[in-house]
Amino acid sequence: MALPRRIAVLVSGRGSNLQALLDAIADGRLDARIVGVFSDKPDAPALARVGAGLRWTRDANAYPERAAFDTDLADAVAAAAPDWVVCAGYLRILGDAFVERFRGRLLNVHPSLLPAYRGLRTHARALAAGETEHGASVHFVIPELDAGAVIAQAVVPIHTSDTPQILAARVLQVEHSLLVWVSQRCVAGRIAERDGHVVLDGQPVFTPARLEFPLR
Ligand code: GRF
Repeated sequence: MALPRRIAVLVSGRGSNLQALLDAIADGRLDARIVGVFSDKPDAPALARVGAGLRWTRDANAYPERAAFDTDLADAVAAAAPDWVVCAGYLRILGDAFVERFRGRLLNVHPSLLPAYRGLRTHARALAAGETEHGASVHFVIPELDAGAVIAQAVVPIHTSDTPQILAARVLQVEHSLLVWVSQRCVAGRIAERDGHVVLDGQPVFTPARLEFPLR
């Protein structure tokens, strides 16, 4: 039987997306192994979700320049020999050299229906624009921020009484299911990036899958 695929996870904060992967592995929904959790923030609560042997962290702000931190991070990730690298709430922009080193197996989960609302404060910006729906995307990472090919999205409604916090909580619920859905297909060898496009089951995908997950 084939060995489970190896996933490295990059985190900066809470780690609820990391937890969604760990839960899916633990209950048999995701045939994978977390081989390392990497953080630019030594005090990220996400780190406590795995054993000490799986953690790698450095204070990125203590490095004289960004490229030096990126090189250390990339070497550490490569040493874990991952098949896939998932940015799950990793808030630091990855330099081009890092992205090129893991290109084609580097994913990010972003809280908006890309290409709308790249960058930060996506929930507040969607509300301010009067949107009626919002959501999350999982995409391949390329050097341009939040601009890589989108694999799949999860949609939630926006209600008139929403605040950015309420909306963020609603998006987060479906984000976890979305990340597991995409990861299941990645570890099964069903998803690839070719010429800047997503290929799913051998077919190029021009419109990302839009998934509806029940809200709890
Ligand atoms: C998520 O909303 C993710 O989309 C964004 O940062 C948040 C991370 O949450 N990139 P968590 O650390 O996984 O709980």
